[in-house]
Amino acid sequence: MNILLRAHSGLRYVVLGLLLAAIFIAYSNWKSNKSGDSKVYLFALIATHTQLLIGLILFTMSPKVNFSLISEKVFRFFSIEHGFMMLIAIILITVGRVRSKKLEGADKHRTVLYFYALALVIMLVAIPWPFRNLGSGWF
Ligand code: HEM
Repeated sequence: MNILLRAHSGLRYVVLGLLLAAIFIAYSNWKSNKSGDSKVYLFALIATHTQLLIGLILFTMSPKVNFSLISEKVFRFFSIEHGFMMLIAIILITVGRVRSKKLEGADKHRTVLYFYALALVIMLVAIPWPFRNLGSGWF
């Protein structure tokens, strides 16, 4: 449980970094009307899905997931808000990637840009940053 939690916590920066890189690349490829794909789009998807997998395991093990205590902020956050918002973000990234695969040129990159950017915003809101006082740290 502890190893998984540390991995889940650290992987957030990999996910955020890859998403930012993918968004930046998608924007410049869109503007320059570039053909072809970028491997970074795929890496961002893989990192996010890995996070989903670890998150689902944590969900079954974590003492912070407890539906009888959801009137309390920390339990509500980890039992409902965190997983739900992350799931939406991950679905957006998956849909964005799948749709973009069927498109070419500027349309492909614009699709990645919109879906990944929206997912990034949702993720930033759903991460238990230390200043939100949810008992989680920076790492
Ligand atoms: C890309 C998506 C995700 C990111 C970036 C993310 C990030 C994080 C972070 C930073 C923490 C705090 C770790 C700590 O306290 O050190 C956390 C905790 C947690 N996450 Fe996620 N998460 C994601 C997806 C998910 C999903 C999809 C689920 C489950 C459905 C999930 C379930 C949990 C649970 C249960 C905890 C609390 C564990 C505990 O402290 O006992 N996460 N997550």
